[in-house]
Amino acid sequence: MSQTFAAHDLLFKMMISEAEIQERVKEMGAELTARYMDKNPLFVGVLNGAFIFTADLMRACNLACEVDFVRISSYAGLQSTGQIDLIMELKTSIKARHLIIVEDIIDTGRTLHHFIAQLKKQEPASIAIATLLLKPEALEYPLDIDFIGFDIPNKFVIGYGLDYDEQGRHLNAIYQLVEAE
Ligand code: XMP
Ligand code: MG
Repeated sequence: MSQTFAAHDLLFKMMISEAEIQERVKEMGAELTARYMDKNPLFVGVLNGAFIFTADLMRACNLACEVDFVRISSYAGLQSTGQIDLIMELKTSIKARHLIIVEDIIDTGRTLHHFIAQLKKQEPASIAIATLLLKPEALEYPLDIDFIGFDIPNKFVIGYGLDYDEQGRHLNAIYQLVEAE
């Protein structure tokens, strides 16, 4: 796997390898399996970024489970826009269900903070968050995050579902932006 990747006008370098990701996803799957055995949890993947992580995390679990997706916010370019829109809603009724919200990355926490407040109104049995990446330094909104793949520094990253203006989602590793000196 290549150490660098060029997307549009920017250069990215590898931060987390494919092997590291796969190992961590397996561990998270084992944790979820233990926690949710006999609960038939509903994985709620947040599109587009979490599509690969959701697929891998589900397959790392060994239990009865279901999946649905939402599409929430617009995130154009490198900065969070502050706009929360539920563009695509859940098809599944979540009342009395155990939900596992699956995110690619939590930055300020704004997206999930608002989304979870909406979900609670529909009275699920429980809500947990599983995120592949967390930028602890960037977190501004209160959020209980139950399952974290990796804490990363406050760098812009792509790969494994994450994009820079739609490029880079197909990469099997996580790449960070190389900033000009
Ligand atoms: P908040 O601030 O709401 O942001 O926690 C979460 C959403 O912002 C996007 N995001 C990123 N996307 N590289 C990306 O490709 C990044 O480094 C990055 N940081 C935040 C992402 O869509 C996430 O759902
Ligand atoms: Mg996302």
